[in-house]
Amino acid sequence: MAQSFILARQNGRSIPQEDKIFGISNRAKAAIREKGAAAVVNGTIGALMDDEGKLVVLESVDEVFHNLDPNDYAEYAPIGGLASFREDVQKAAFGNHVPEGFKAAVATPGGTGSLRNAIANYSDPGDQVLTSDWHWAPYNTIAGEIGRSIATFTFFDEERKFNAASFAEVSRELLSKQESLVIILNTPAHNPTGYSLTLEDWDQVIEILTEEASCGKAITLVIDAAYIDFAGDEDEYREFLPKLSRLPENVLPIMAYSLSKTYTLYGTRCGAMICIAKTQEIADEFKRVCEFSSRGSWSNSAKVAQVILSRIYEDPALLARVDEEREKYRNMLLARGTAFSEAAAEVGLEIVPFDAGFFVSVPSPDPDALSRKLEEKDIFLVPLKLGIRISVASVPEDKCRMLPAVIKAAMEELGQA
Ligand SMILES: Cc1ncc(COP(=O)(O)O)c(C=O)c1O
Repeated sequence: MAQSFILARQNGRSIPQEDKIFGISNRAKAAIREKGAAAVVNGTIGALMDDEGKLVVLESVDEVFHNLDPNDYAEYAPIGGLASFREDVQKAAFGNHVPEGFKAAVATPGGTGSLRNAIANYSDPGDQVLTSDWHWAPYNTIAGEIGRSIATFTFFDEERKFNAASFAEVSRELLSKQESLVIILNTPAHNPTGYSLTLEDWDQVIEILTEEASCGKAITLVIDAAYIDFAGDEDEYREFLPKLSRLPENVLPIMAYSLSKTYTLYGTRCGAMICIAKTQEIADEFKRVCEFSSRGSWSNSAKVAQVILSRIYEDPALLARVDEEREKYRNMLLARGTAFSEAAAEVGLEIVPFDAGFFVSVPSPDPDALSRKLEEKDIFLVPLKLGIRISVASVPEDKCRMLPAVIKAAMEELGQA
């Protein structure tokens, strides 16, 4: 799309005047100011809010924060992260399901930094990065900023199951025209659908990639695990991890782990990219190139949350407290998702296959029109390419239960249902 800039260069990007989500979110906030929170649904926020609309911050984590010494946050951290953080973040990411292989962790500014670094270092300029058709829109921005773009496979088949055939087909097609392939799978509790790959889905992914890898090209499988601790039992949702060790040498799994949601430390910008390599040489190379790339993009990552994570992991009682506190909020979130999906089934509103997490999506032939119609009723949701996204993370359970009927009615009014 041709755009005109005064002095800035377009560099192949399409840059809107206003970020769509922030625009809707601002209108939601204005409606709340005018009519009161009870009269408005703000389902646009990508952070966990309590039933009063306040950001959930784990008290146990906040206490650690308030007991820090200035050195813990004012000083630079090493480029790849503090040594203690590199160890502890692997414990946090893998839990009781440590995959076999040569692991290395590099600190990044949130999961976003991990995604950026994975794409920058494991694909070539001009390459297409593969993800599902329903996906977190910033993947496009992250890839586009460094001269790559996103290609998609169809996430679900006609039986509403993971579409392994499409995944295989598009992977093969891309590998036939590129020297390498980066794949991003956001699971469990995918944004925007709430889908979690099952263990059977994972077996299919491993089998397909093993077959595709016979071409000898480099394949990088990025597991965007931003919501892993909000899908359900932390242990159960990590059971897929050991399967990654079955992949051949030229397929490198990288976990993009984030402290944003798990520790409610969104604004501290902390995460890590963790590789599970078949050889020590591949893990060493990962560390070397990703640290180099960090230096040239954000230099080093903020130290504060790295220290917080290590304080938590050096104190088992504190770790247990953090886990318990998170479980309480996770149960609140899961109850909202269940309320929404049950009510959707009751009124016959189709939703995209949902398991858990911050978001639920409703397919729509004209998401912008649907979102505008719902705004008339003071319901603020995010229109995507293929449907609308409801953040159950920011909507209380009673409203989650009532929403499907209102969405269904709006779709009928628009002739969409
Ligand atoms: C799918 C997905 N991946 C990654 C992230 C990265 O978040 P952060 O950079 O805050 O860790 C988010 C945050 O909203 C997300 O929704």
